[in-house]
Amino acid sequence: MKFAVIGHPIDHSLSPIMHDANFKSLKRDDTYEALNIPPKHFHLIKEIINEKELDGFNITIPHKESIIPYLDEIDDHAQKIGAINTVKIENGRWLGYNTDGVGYVKGLQAVYPNLEDAKILLIGAGGASKGLAATLNEIVKAPLTVANRTMRRFETWDLAVEQFTLSEAEQALNQFDIVINTTPAGMNQNKDVVIALDNLAPHTLVSDIVYVPAKTPILALAEAKGNPIYNGLDMFVNQGAESFKIWTGQDADTDTMKNAVIEQLKRRN
Ligand code: ATR
Repeated sequence: MKFAVIGHPIDHSLSPIMHDANFKSLKRDDTYEALNIPPKHFHLIKEIINEKELDGFNITIPHKESIIPYLDEIDDHAQKIGAINTVKIENGRWLGYNTDGVGYVKGLQAVYPNLEDAKILLIGAGGASKGLAATLNEIVKAPLTVANRTMRRFETWDLAVEQFTLSEAEQALNQFDIVINTTPAGMNQNKDVVIALDNLAPHTLVSDIVYVPAKTPILALAEAKGNPIYNGLDMFVNQGAESFKIWTGQDADTDTMKNAVIEQLKRRN
């Protein structure tokens, strides 16, 4: 079968290496390539994909919402989020899914088994946060709290959550068992810590959906305070594994996928 990831920029995507490792481990002869489609060419998406004769593709920044008008069907979970990261092509029909939230939460449950009883704070209210919130909301008993820099972002939220400003979150921080940063603050060269951690309770798990760097500023600060930390590497691996399952019906070899990503990151450093 033939797969791809579509984004812009896409040169540094680890998806091809991760999926290739899985195909090899499962003795499949599938292919997975990275396709750079800048926003100004996105209207050609049907032609580009049809010419490649793909069976499915992942879709990443900045196209997760732009793809929606091109889909024949959207599953309920993706519909709630309003963003798509996986498309399955079946008899010429394009079916949209979102595996980001499920990918993150599967990994989180492995390190925090009592997830249903956790009080959770999400920082950021963009597409990534919505994906996590929609999935967490199906598992966690207490209402979720979401903090954002600008309150206008919540106008696009259908899900009922407690809405906090960043400073309200800083003040109430000790109420939470898990704090998850979904904003790009701290990604790549950005050294910002999105909220002050002065009021963090000692047991609170601090998480970031970013995995490059492995320790974002908020994770480094939490670790220095002695708190448990959890980054976005498992989310990346699991979203890929869930996409593979949607496309093929088969379970992916997530250990091999994760090792391939870790090895590639080591080579880059
Ligand atoms: P994604 O799909 O990755 O979630 P997005 O939909 O553009 O991306 O959302 C980015 C989120 O990160 C938003 O919640 C944004 O806050 P605003 O709604 O106020 O713009 C948040 N964000 C981005 N940079 C930030 C920063 N430096 N500090 C705090 N929040 C930031």
